[in-house]
Amino acid sequence: GGDAPGLNAAIKSVVYRASDFHLETVGILDGWRGLLDGYSDLVIPLDYLTVRPWDRDGGTNLGSSRTNPFRVARGGQELDLSGEVLSNMERLGLDGLVAMGGEDTLGVAYALSQKGAPVVGVPKTIDKDLLGTDYTLGFDTAMCTCQELIERCRTPAGSHHWIQVVEIMGRHAGHLAFWSGVGGGAFVVLVPESPFGLDHLGELISQRLERSALDRRYPRYAVIVVAEGASPTTGGLVTTSDEKDAFGHVKLGGIGDTIAHWIRTETSYDARSVVPAHAQRGGPPGPVDRLMGVLFGSAAVDLLVGGGTGRMVSAKGVAPACRISHESL
Ligand code: F6P
Repeated sequence: GGDAPGLNAAIKSVVYRASDFHLETVGILDGWRGLLDGYSDLVIPLDYLTVRPWDRDGGTNLGSSRTNPFRVARGGQELDLSGEVLSNMERLGLDGLVAMGGEDTLGVAYALSQKGAPVVGVPKTIDKDLLGTDYTLGFDTAMCTCQELIERCRTPAGSHHWIQVVEIMGRHAGHLAFWSGVGGGAFVVLVPESPFGLDHLGELISQRLERSALDRRYPRYAVIVVAEGASPTTGGLVTTSDEKDAFGHVKLGGIGDTIAHWIRTETSYDARSVVPAHAQRGGPPGPVDRLMGVLFGSAAVDLLVGGGTGRMVSAKGVAPACRISHESL
């Protein structure tokens, strides 16, 4: 699926932990595609020295694809080629497979485990929207990157007195928009979990800017962060095209422009929209993702060695997902 900072740290950790058990490790290039027939060149040996510097690298050194082996487009048809994956695993002599991904990759991993393949999962997505774990690889680095991007949008908005809309990734969940938006000092954060009224948004902006309009020394701008999957009460998701990927997802994008356009035409304020797109997932992993990569990768090997399959390693109660409560003194 989509890449995320911390993947290479997790891959390195799998190789290191496997070597503790004197197990040989190979890397499958380009996700599930690397286990389909005709892609035998997509399997490479991974040893201790090869992966030693990998934890500092962003993205994934093994590459990725949005291949769903249960729905492969071939010759104008959609075919279930999961049998090829299973037979190639056998041909390669794989005793176990660690799949790193989000709902799509891990959905395939689970389905393969149901067919008898020894597969375990590592939760990875900057969206932090997987059930059963409080942390998914890539979230913390992406959150810090997004916070910085939001802050960089603030100064021009302040200088030129406009409403700055920043569109942050997050298909079904607003964690990334919410944490980076609040951290980046956004005035409003719009998330997929709660449809928003454009008129209500307009009222909030007016109230805020009217206060500073009385005295021009005060800031006359606002930053609005919107998750790409957020939708107005009046309409559905905003997408870049109707085309669906192998997992049935349409490409989201454009809600930021829609909001900025609405503000420009329906209110007296100027507005701009920025879409940082894949830069949000780019760059080297921060310390949380390096550490979580180490923990997830080694836990995945332990799970496989212990005979586990069809299960995902998970983290419970780690920052920044910890619950904040008020205790009496
Ligand atoms: O699931 C992670 C994610 O980054 C989502 O936030 C986003 O909707 C999607 O991937 C983007 O997909 P792609 O990398 O195919 O553009």
